[in-house]
Amino acid sequence: MANQELFKKVLSHAKEYGFVFQSSEIYDGLSAVYDYGQQGVALKKNLRDYWWKAMVQLNENIVGLDAAILMHPTTWKASGHVDAFNDPLIDNKDSKKRYRADVLVEDYVGKLETKIEKEVKKAAKRFGDAFDKEQFLATNPRVLGYKEKGDAILKRLGKSLENEDLADVKSLIEELEIVCPVSGSKNWTEVKQFNLMFGTKLGASAESATELYLRPETAQGIFVNFLNVQKTGRMKLPFGIAQTGKAFRNEIVARQFIFRMREFEQMEMQFFIPPGTQKEWYAHWKETRLKWHHSLGLGEDNYRFHDHEKLAHYADAACDIEFKFPFGFKELEGIHSRTDFDLSSHEEFSGKKLQYFDPERQENYVPYVLETSIGLDRLFLAVFSHALQEESLEDGSSRTVLRLPAVVAPTKVAVLPLVKKDGLPAIAKTLTEELKWDMTVAYDEKDAVGRRYRRQDALGTPFCITVDHQTVEDQTVTIRYRDTMAQERLTMTEAKAKISKAVSFQNWLGQL
Ligand code: GAP
Repeated sequence: MANQELFKKVLSHAKEYGFVFQSSEIYDGLSAVYDYGQQGVALKKNLRDYWWKAMVQLNENIVGLDAAILMHPTTWKASGHVDAFNDPLIDNKDSKKRYRADVLVEDYVGKLETKIEKEVKKAAKRFGDAFDKEQFLATNPRVLGYKEKGDAILKRLGKSLENEDLADVKSLIEELEIVCPVSGSKNWTEVKQFNLMFGTKLGASAESATELYLRPETAQGIFVNFLNVQKTGRMKLPFGIAQTGKAFRNEIVARQFIFRMREFEQMEMQFFIPPGTQKEWYAHWKETRLKWHHSLGLGEDNYRFHDHEKLAHYADAACDIEFKFPFGFKELEGIHSRTDFDLSSHEEFSGKKLQYFDPERQENYVPYVLETSIGLDRLFLAVFSHALQEESLEDGSSRTVLRLPAVVAPTKVAVLPLVKKDGLPAIAKTLTEELKWDMTVAYDEKDAVGRRYRRQDALGTPFCITVDHQTVEDQTVTIRYRDTMAQERLTMTEAKAKISKAVSFQNWLGQL
């Protein structure tokens, strides 16, 4: 499927099969907020478990935490979010639409890239087999012109944002003659900074209420609990604290389905280390996290690192693990070497020491932190969009199949009596009852068996077990594999053992 077509299919399949719904749909929805349906909640939970087991259960020196969403407001002063968690915004006076100024400029550069792609396509057609893409990109004057222009624009944008020179961002928009996609006009307001945190209030009366924020990241709950966990758990450095939970950002450009949401879930781990060891731990966690992604089997070519050149105020190294979504390579996870910025800053704002006594070094210090931070919803989108395939079959028909990794599939096995009589449903129901203690299992007796297989294919169920007349005689069943549609005759005990192994965490995470 072409990428745009695939993305449309992802949206419609997610809704049709109960994975993701628009929030408050009966009221026409709430933009960039989504609900997970009966299938989606199971896939999301399994992905969260896959991360948690790899991080917490399999690492002796990483423990879990569940901090509250609401935190003391000074937390966000200390973290820098009150002062620096901003997006540059611009309004079009005619359409009254609001845009992220940097995104308008980046979209303009994106159009230059599309022009380059068009030139490449034209030349490939013209030169046929003799076409050398690398050479064409390096020498064609038109391509070089577009590239040079794009690079210069991005460089200037980066510099203006870094220097907080918002007037220059506006000048850039004017010079490039960028128009509002809705009104088509160039009638822009000044560019203003807009804080992404959602505010709320704590307290009964308007006068005495305290202004709070919904947390924009889960990490700060870990930092403020660093000493609680270290002391009560008698943890020695290096050690990590892992947490999963909701985060909220008032995103202005909220698009691409669950890729950029206003309410989303993060899975973060802060690894506390002695100062001076951050380089080796940064390399360690880069490698470890990439291997974890690869273990899901979505194809190693679909991941790449993007090293940050412009670093956040708290970091001395940072990169993203990008995934090839249907709309291109985009950030899936961030790995940040955060130095001692967060703990030192909380020390300063709280007036409490957040230090560790290192028995080997015989000294007290504020630990450094290595962070891994992944969005659960983005992981869901990566897995789901990669899994969704439209397949042409030998008999000329086609099927929709969701090739989810078996370990995270919402339902591991569907048990299907071939017909609704002759004692087959009773055997199938008994088998379902036995299996449900160890894995999620569905029982389905409606429609012809072929249609039931297709239904399970679309839901991502990796195995079906069919109970037929031979089962009554010799306790054997047919096991049908989602990905190949192959079928195999096994005893019930063999089928159970085979499926249990195939869906086990050990089978998937054991390769790490
Ligand atoms: N504590 C570091 C931190 O929050 P981040 O790069 O802002 O870093 C980490 O966010 C991850 O959270 C991203 O890599 C992405 O997967 C996810 N994420 C961030 N904003 C998101 C949004 N609006 N919707 C969905 N996921 C988001």
